[in-house]
Amino acid sequence: MKISNWLSSAAMGAVLLFSGSSAFAVTIGFSQVGDEGDWRPAFSKDMQDEAKKEGIDLKFADAQGKEEDQLKAVRAFIAQKVDAIIIAPVVVTGWTQVLEEAKKAGIPVFLADRDVEADKSLFVARISADFNLEGRLAGAWLAQASKGSCNVVELQGTVGAAPAIERKKGFEAIISNFPGIKIVKTQSGDFTTDGGKKVMEAFIKSTDNLKGVCGVFAHNDNMQLGAIQAMKEAGLKPGKDFLLVSVDYVPAMKTELASGEANASVELRSAIGKYIYPVVTGYLKDHKELPKWIVIPSDLHTAATPGY
Ligand code: AHR
Repeated sequence: MKISNWLSSAAMGAVLLFSGSSAFAVTIGFSQVGDEGDWRPAFSKDMQDEAKKEGIDLKFADAQGKEEDQLKAVRAFIAQKVDAIIIAPVVVTGWTQVLEEAKKAGIPVFLADRDVEADKSLFVARISADFNLEGRLAGAWLAQASKGSCNVVELQGTVGAAPAIERKKGFEAIISNFPGIKIVKTQSGDFTTDGGKKVMEAFIKSTDNLKGVCGVFAHNDNMQLGAIQAMKEAGLKPGKDFLLVSVDYVPAMKTELASGEANASVELRSAIGKYIYPVVTGYLKDHKELPKWIVIPSDLHTAATPGY
């Protein structure tokens, strides 16, 4: 269900009830992926700022990209008997046991941002963007911009992470309709600027300066920013001789779009604490069943359609 529809439904009451400040004392444990890229720290800051605004006691744990640290953090939250746990999982696998432990302890778990591969009865709801849609928006933009003919190099996110899996699937679903568009190189740059730069340097080397390549699809902006650096260092002209599309729409990418060194970015909203906390505190109040997936909208931006 789209967040806009969901908010306008009965649950809107919970949002109104809890907007401004949380009506009762709540302790929430939040296990965050890490601080890779520009989007993730913005999301962490928003979660901390919104918690303060709402009077929520937030126990924040940064897993530094390691799932084992997340599992430890979640177990620590269970031991501390927090009221609820929010997890932004590094990867999709390996969650069943710890989610069962939380359930046994009677602590509701919510997923923020990334998904898990586990039985849906083990968490209350996931509040996030639709990563598959983001991949499809990127694919549709590229299909239109290239008039259906393009050899694409792809910079994938962290292996096994929901956004890497789903953005790839969505992008491929769209380009499969265009026989003239294919992915000729693909590799993970781990969602980092440095990773994106290294992968692009390797692509440049192995394709004789991107000969025959027309587009770059990066699963996030930071990898694209790294790719832009690598392309410029090789004397190439990103955004002019190559079509560049990525995801996040972070401030540095807005600058690149305006300067013409990148062409499009799908916005992943980072200020989403205002969506997440009312869902969690509303559930703690009434324990009413929620939709398993509450979707935050995504929009594609270009220099001509910056949005704001
Ligand atoms: O899970 C969302 C992705 O994670 C963002 O696109 C990326 O920047 C972050 O690392």
